[in-house]
Amino acid sequence: HFVLYQGCIISIGLIGRSWAMLFASGGFEVKLYDIEQQQIRNALENIRKEMKSLEQAGSLKGSLSVEEQLSLISGCPSIQEAVEGAMHIQECVPEDLELKKKIFAQLDSIVDDRVILSSSTSCLMPSKLFAGLVHVKQCIVAHPVNPPYYVPLVELVPHPETAPTTVDRTHALMKKIGQCPVRVQKEVDGFVLNRLQYAIISEAWRMVEEGIVSPSDLDLVMSEGLGMRYAFIGPLETMHLNAEGMLSYCDRYSEGMKRVLKTFGPIPEFSRATAEKVNQGMCLKVPDDPEHLAARRQWRDECLMRLAKLKSQVQSQ
Ligand code: NAI
Repeated sequence: HFVLYQGCIISIGLIGRSWAMLFASGGFEVKLYDIEQQQIRNALENIRKEMKSLEQAGSLKGSLSVEEQLSLISGCPSIQEAVEGAMHIQECVPEDLELKKKIFAQLDSIVDDRVILSSSTSCLMPSKLFAGLVHVKQCIVAHPVNPPYYVPLVELVPHPETAPTTVDRTHALMKKIGQCPVRVQKEVDGFVLNRLQYAIISEAWRMVEEGIVSPSDLDLVMSEGLGMRYAFIGPLETMHLNAEGMLSYCDRYSEGMKRVLKTFGPIPEFSRATAEKVNQGMCLKVPDDPEHLAARRQWRDECLMRLAKLKSQVQSQ
């Protein structure tokens, strides 16, 4: 039978729902818990609709049918019932340290020594989240990227006392559900993805603020330039391929890179005046009312879905 493993999702907002769909696509039974019972009903309804439309688009993940996947997902009225028999618990409550600590303290008091306690946090440090827990060896951050169904990266960030087997087991589970886990070996504020993202935002902001480039042209530099490569190879492999290997790239270009990097200024203030200027540029293309934003997000997700398909074709060659 296809039930191999039992996962548990604590809180099923946007991210919890995606995890539930991913676990089910991997053939794992999933139990959902949320403080709002209505959220569970909404989530089950929403997941059914989304799986159907994914199936129609030929983008449903995994080898099971929609009905088989849906039969693996069920809601629970209490946290105790939801974690009963679970091998992996994925916490997805709102990004609030005190709330998350409260949830982990509660889980800590009811779980056994085998289950993995995993947080979806985007920016809370494992040393803060898991401080003082009896089961700290079983705790880890597994940070997904929105929307997780189409963007496979998951950053795994251990607490200094997390057991290596916890990292290995989470890594293996993420691969089984079709995600791409990376190991962040030491915790650092922002983890890796957001540090890279903020470096880009910082320089983008500065160049728009200084009138070097318009907001819309700045975005084109990424979407039509750097981003074309970055969907397939990262910045380091870009260096490796843009010369005769990395060493030759550094020989040729490191002086030039250092010269330009020295002209980077301090951290931007993100002033209201510049925010308004950038917003004006953005609104030319996507007005900032809920309808236009939602339509554009839907378009983005559709593009990501098609890109994911292309990537899986390219990688299987
Ligand atoms: P959300 O607001 O969509 O969902 C939060 C859920 O938590 C809701 O269903 C709510 O009913 C429930 N909840 C609130 N208080 C609770 C409590 N005391 N006990 C149990 N459940 C409770 O939030 P979202 O976007 O799904 O984010 C969840 C986590 O995932 C956050 O830590 C966030 O940083 C992280 N994350 C979010 C990403 C995003 O782009 N939205 C990307 C990657 C990670």
